[in-house]
Amino acid sequence: MTRGNIELSNINRYNDGFEIPETKLNTTIKKATDKWLKKLEEFDGQFPGTMSKDDKYVLGENNSWTQGMHTGSALLAYELTENEKFLEYAKQHIESYYRRYENKVDMWCHDVGFAFSPSVIALYKLTGDEAMKELALKAADHFRTYIYSEKGGFILRSYTRKDVPDGCRTMMDTLMNIPLLFWAYEQTGEERYVEAAKSQLAITEKCLIREDGSSFHHYQFDVETHAPIRGLTFQGHADDSCWARGHSWGVYGFPVAYTYTKDETLLPLHRDISYFMLNHMPETFVPYYDYDFVEECNEAHDSSSALISACGLLEACKYLDESSEEYKIYKTAANKMVNGVIDHCMDYENKDFDGLVNWVTCSAPHNLCIDGCTSYGDYFLLEALVRLKKLDWERYW
Ligand code: GLY
Repeated sequence: MTRGNIELSNINRYNDGFEIPETKLNTTIKKATDKWLKKLEEFDGQFPGTMSKDDKYVLGENNSWTQGMHTGSALLAYELTENEKFLEYAKQHIESYYRRYENKVDMWCHDVGFAFSPSVIALYKLTGDEAMKELALKAADHFRTYIYSEKGGFILRSYTRKDVPDGCRTMMDTLMNIPLLFWAYEQTGEERYVEAAKSQLAITEKCLIREDGSSFHHYQFDVETHAPIRGLTFQGHADDSCWARGHSWGVYGFPVAYTYTKDETLLPLHRDISYFMLNHMPETFVPYYDYDFVEECNEAHDSSSALISACGLLEACKYLDESSEEYKIYKTAANKMVNGVIDHCMDYENKDFDGLVNWVTCSAPHNLCIDGCTSYGDYFLLEALVRLKKLDWERYW
């Protein structure tokens, strides 16, 4: 497939060099971190569940893909404020990651990277604690050994049930889980990690990214042979639509993969998926849960998609030439999306919700957490704010 052919249909929206004014950025950082300090005291080391109910978090254990991002949100708040209370809060969680690994709690799935990168690897990067490196390497080894299909060359959707149709799929979400494998390769030099990550990238490019730059959410493979069959959706509007959050895992995942591989073919591919997204961005710059919906409507939003994508575009800006068209477009688009979320999803004065942003939807087709709050909304708001403050920020992924 030829890549790099997608044009921006609305370039004037993205070439005015808009940047969130410094005072607005600083006020937002203060507002978010002040709220987070209070909330974390209230949560008392417990983890928000994967989604809110009536805008409130149901607190519990470290037992699913979103909890790594809760720990990571405290670390980002620490980086933004230098308030040691945030770092101490994150450190309180360390025991729970050991338990999680030892007891294999929600470890039989494609989302192991989400659990360990923004938490355990982040702690290693921030504190230099070698025990964190060792634990993250064990998680990476488990992920590589059990969740990667040698036969198909891809990360399985879930569980070790390669014999059931649902298990024999791969998905866009995996693009933000393979940084765990790239990182493990960097630390150990073991080729099996980078081979698996590169194979996943190639299969994603071939099967999940369509010629027009949009993406399937899932891709089904034959349970016997692991040969490719067809693309379909799980959390999106339709099999042939483009689920916003799944797509955003690509808008962020490909630039991360580029920094590890330096594979130049990823750049036009990333531009295509980014431009597809920007061509389908609603007026508010906060996407609905699926890019089938662009005009104002009553569909569920997904502000986390805007934030994740903004982080991806800002990551790409790190290696693009500042005078290039993409650099200017990515930087402007990232600023507009974060600005859209600040304006529409952070009304703490008039709305009582537990998270840092609302309008996050877990799964619209399953009626799960519509326009609510989630730990990935919280985490990616703070990551986007850190990135806007420090363009050269060292990411956790
Ligand atoms: N599992 C990742 C997501 O729901 O976006």
